Formats: sequence, structure tokens, C-alpha cells
Amino acid sequence: MRIIESIQEMRFWSDAERREGRRIVLVPTMGALHEGHLSLVRDGRKRGERLVVSLFVNPAQFAPQEDFAAYPRDFERDQVLLEKEKVDVLFHPSVSEIYPEGYQSYVEVEKLSPLLCGEFRPGHFRGVATVVAKLFNIVRPHAAIFGAKDYQQLQLIRRTVRDLNFDVEVVGHPTVRDQDGLALSSRNVYLSREERAAALALHRSLKRAESLVLRGERESKRIIDAMRAEIEKEPLARIEYVKVCHPETLEQVARVEGEALLALAVWVGKARLIDNTILKA
Ligand code: PAF
Repeated sequence: MRIIESIQEMRFWSDAERREGRRIVLVPTMGALHEGHLSLVRDGRKRGERLVVSLFVNPAQFAPQEDFAAYPRDFERDQVLLEKEKVDVLFHPSVSEIYPEGYQSYVEVEKLSPLLCGEFRPGHFRGVATVVAKLFNIVRPHAAIFGAKDYQQLQLIRRTVRDLNFDVEVVGHPTVRDQDGLALSSRNVYLSREERAAALALHRSLKRAESLVLRGERESKRIIDAMRAEIEKEPLARIEYVKVCHPETLEQVARVEGEALLALAVWVGKARLIDNTILKA
């Protein structure tokens, strides 16, 4: 596996591969890799001849009071894991390589950004859309893979790709869960044993919502109330939001008709956890 730190070298490699007609797949990550990331990497392996994983903890997507400094980082471990997956290139730029002195251009996705997580993390999706656009311009992949756990992020990137005419296929990969249902996340390392047990309330509440819809419930409010009641049984969990939304516009819907996104964010200790499911009426 080649480790590339400079934009120039990354471009050079990519151009050469493209000239040879090879399909390049990119898996963008912020490191602290877990089975969820590795599942994206394995998916990526099947979708092209060359596989690039980017590892960049993007300061632009963290608000000043958020966990940028504390975000888990373990480059050596990540490197070993990616070697095992036979990744071709690990793109690992520095902050100053991506945001040099004087940097001032950002990608705004006007309607999707302020919804759901964006309401509580102002500026977050501007940072995500910007860094992903930059990664697409630097790595020039034919396809890029993102996890569906970050559903809003995935929709936002699909929108950016359409709006800005990026020639990249965006692939959504299903959420990977532990056996007990907890969605894998780099931030799960913040959870103590008690908190991890409490965090299972997220998955339980999604299952409760799915079973209500299966039994004919269509009113978003009643579904949300039932989920809140389930989560509130856990004293260690603090709900940020639970919402039923249109799966593409992410606008809230009063009733589940056809498909609807059910998304939630819950704090457990220091960890802000998100999860979602698509409800099908
Ligand atoms: O999902 C993530 O890990 C990040 O938001 C991403 C897509 C790598 C952009 O920094």
C-alpha cells in the first residue's frame, strides 16, 4: 500500500491510473477505523481496479466546541488494517495541505444542511461538502462509497454531485451493526460499559418504530412518541432529536406514506450517536 500525503502526488498517481483505463474507487474516512469502514473498503474493492482510502480528520466539519482535538486517531493501527485489505493508496494529507494559509472557499448545500443534525451542528455539513468536493477533485475517483448510518451526509453528497456535476458515482453502503444492534461508529470508543448498554436504546427504538408501522401506524407523532418513551427508559441517554422525514428532501413529514426516513441523534455520556432506518408503509 502506498501512502500519499501530497495533493500533487495523489493527482499524479490518479492521472496515470486513469490513462491506463483503470476504475478508481475512493472510500473517504476520518480514520479510527472499525468494521463499518472495513466493510466499505471491501465493497470498494469489488467496484473497481484501484482502491484509495483517504484518512483526514477534517477540522472544517467540527464546530469550535466539538471534539476535533479529542477525535480518536490511531494512524499505525489504521495503516495495518488497510494493508490487510489490500488497499492501493492511503491518502493522508495534513491540515495545511488541504486548507493552506488564506483558504476561503466552501461548498454550501443550502436546503439539506440546516436540517436534522445541521440544526445542532451549524457549519458541519458545509465542512463535509467542502472536503468531499476537494477529495473528489484531488483523487478523481470514478466511484466513492459512504455509509448509510450518516444518511444526511450521503444525501447531501448525492446532491452536491448532481448540483456541481461531479463525474463520480456515489454508492451508499448499509449501516454495519454489532450483534446487539449498536451501529458502528468511531465515537463508540467514548462509551463506558454502562453507556454502551444504554446506547442500545437507539436500535431498540428504531425496531419499535418499524413494528408500529408494520402494524399499520402512519402518524409520525405517535411513532416519535413511542420511540422517545423507549429511549427515555435509559437515564444515561439524552435525546437531541427524533424525526420522520422525506427520504430525499429530509423535510419532516406528518405521516408515513411510501418510504420515510426515521432519523435520531442521542447523547450518551460524551458520545453523540446517530442512527436511522427507512420506514416502509
Ligand atoms: O463520514 C466521515 O467520516 C466524514 O464525514 C467524511 C465523509 C470522511 C468527510 O470528512
